[in-house]
Amino acid sequence: MLEDRIRRPSLMDKIVSPAAAAGLIRDGMIIGMSGFTRAGDAKAVPIAMAERAKSDPFQITLLTGASLGHDIDRMLTEAHVLARRMPFQTDATLRAAINRGEVMFIDQHLSETVEHLRSNQLGPIDYAIIEAAAIREDGGIIPSTSIGNSASFAILAKKVIVEINLSQSLDLEGLHDIYIPTKRPTREAIPVIACDTRAGLPYIPIDPDKIAAIVITKEQDSFSTIEPADAETQAIADHLIGFFEQEVALGRLDLTLNPLQAGIGTIANSVLAGLSDGPFHHLRLYSEVLQDSTFDLFDAGKLSFASGSSITLSSACSARVYGDFERYKDRLVLRPQEISNHPEVIRRLGVIGINTALEVDIYGNVNSTHVNGTHMMNGIGGSGDFARNAYLSIFVTKSLVKGGRISSVVPMVAHVDHTEHDVDIIVTENGLADLRELAPRERAAKVIAHCAHPSYRDALQDYFDRASSRGGHTPHLLEEAFSWHLRSRDSGDMRKPAARAAAE
Ligand code: COA
Repeated sequence: MLEDRIRRPSLMDKIVSPAAAAGLIRDGMIIGMSGFTRAGDAKAVPIAMAERAKSDPFQITLLTGASLGHDIDRMLTEAHVLARRMPFQTDATLRAAINRGEVMFIDQHLSETVEHLRSNQLGPIDYAIIEAAAIREDGGIIPSTSIGNSASFAILAKKVIVEINLSQSLDLEGLHDIYIPTKRPTREAIPVIACDTRAGLPYIPIDPDKIAAIVITKEQDSFSTIEPADAETQAIADHLIGFFEQEVALGRLDLTLNPLQAGIGTIANSVLAGLSDGPFHHLRLYSEVLQDSTFDLFDAGKLSFASGSSITLSSACSARVYGDFERYKDRLVLRPQEISNHPEVIRRLGVIGINTALEVDIYGNVNSTHVNGTHMMNGIGGSGDFARNAYLSIFVTKSLVKGGRISSVVPMVAHVDHTEHDVDIIVTENGLADLRELAPRERAAKVIAHCAHPSYRDALQDYFDRASSRGGHTPHLLEEAFSWHLRSRDSGDMRKPAARAAAE
C-alpha cells in the first residue's frame, strides 16, 4: 500500500516519473545523493539524469555518502554529467575519467563532507535525492539501507527529491539514529558513548514543503561481490587473530576486544569472519559498512552489537538477513557517516581500525589511493577518520600485486594517505609488524622482516642498509627512493632487470 510508504496525504500529489524528477536538475547545480558502498543509493533519478543528458547535456557537482551501485557512476560519466564528484567512488569508468582529468574528484575524509556544507565552505546543495523506505506523516524521511550523508544533504538542501523504494523493507524503520552535531565553536559533546547508544531520531527531520518530487522505484540494492578468502587473505586474518590473542594474554585487551572497524572488501571481511572461530566473544562493531561477516558473527553468537552507516550484503546473505530482520534489528544501528566516522567518538570508544593499504613503505607510511603516486584508485574513504583516531590503527595488504611484478612494500610510498604517525600495525600474508613505540629504523627492520615478500626482502634490506649508512632519523636515498615506482611505471615491473630475469 502506497499509503504505508507516503503517510502524509498531501505529498501524494508530488509523485512524478523519474524523467520528470531528473528534469528539475539544471546545469551547474550541486546535487547531494544518498548511497554508501552500494547501499541505499538513489537509483531511478540518476539513471534518468544520464538518459536525459544524451539529448540535453548538462553537468553537475555530485556529492554522495560513498560509492554507488547499479553502475550509476559509470552511466553519469559516460553521459558527461559529472563535472565534479566527491567524496569517494569505486567505478572503473569514472576512475578513468578522473585520471584523464575530465572529472574533478575531491577525495575527502568521509566524516568531513557535511561539516564543509554546514559551514558554507561547500554548497549549498540545490537538490538532495534521497532513497527512502517511507515518508512519515510529519514529512520525516525514513532512510533505507544506508544513511551516509543523506540526513545533512536533505536538511541543508534547498529542495529534496525522494525515491520511495518498494523493495526496501518497512522493517527498516527504527534502525536509524539521526544525530546532527550542534554548531561550532560551541558544539556540545557528541553523546555517543557506546556502540549501542541511540542519540537522535529514527528519521531525517525535514520541512515537508521542501519535497519537490517523489519517485516510486522497486529496484533492489546492488549486491556486494566479495570474493571468498584465498590463502593470502586467510593468512592475514590468522596473523591478526594471533595478535589479538597475544594482546589478551598481555592483559591489554580482554576477549571482547575493543569495538572493531573494518574497511571495505575481501580482506576486511575475512578478518572479521575469522573472529568466529577464535576465543573472542561479545564483540562489538563501530564501523562504516556492515558486510556479510557482521551477520555471520551474529549467527555464530560472537557479536553483541553492530553500529555502521550502511548494510552492504551479498545476494545470499541479503535474503537471509532481510528474510528475518527482526532477529537482528535490535542489535543494529545505522548512523550518519559523520557520526560513524567521528574522530571524537572513535577516540572515546578506543576503536580498533582495520583498513587496507595499496602500498606501505619500510617506515610504515601508507598509500591507500594512488597507483604509482599519480593515478587515483578509489579514494581515502573513511580510512583516515579511523587511522588517526583509533586505539589500534591496523593496515592490511597482500605483499605482492600483479603476479609478483609489484611489491606492496616499497622504500618510500609514492603518495601518503596515512603517515607513519597514524599506523600501529601492518599485516601481510607473510607476517605482522607491530610498530608501536618504535623509532623509524626499528620500524623498517620489522616491516622488511615481517611484511615484505621474500622475493623483495633482500632488495629492501639493501636499500635500508645503504640509506642507513648515510645517516638520518628516517634514512632514505632520495635519488633512489622512487626507482621502484619508475620501473613499475615504465615496464609494469618493479624488479631490477636482473631480478626479473632470474625470476622468469
Ligand atoms: N600498485 C598497483 N596496483 C595495485 C597495488 C599497487 N601497490 N595494490 C593493489 N593494486 C591494484 C590491484 O592489482 C587491483 O587491481 P585490479 O582491480 O586491476 O585487479 C586493485 O588495485 C585493487 O586491489 P586488491 O588487491 O583487489 O584490493 P582491494 O579490493 O581490497 O582494494 C584498496 C584495496 C586499497 C584499493 C581499497 O581497500 C581502498 O580503496 N581503500 C581505501 C578506502 C578505504 O580504506 N575505505 C575503507 C575505510 S572504512
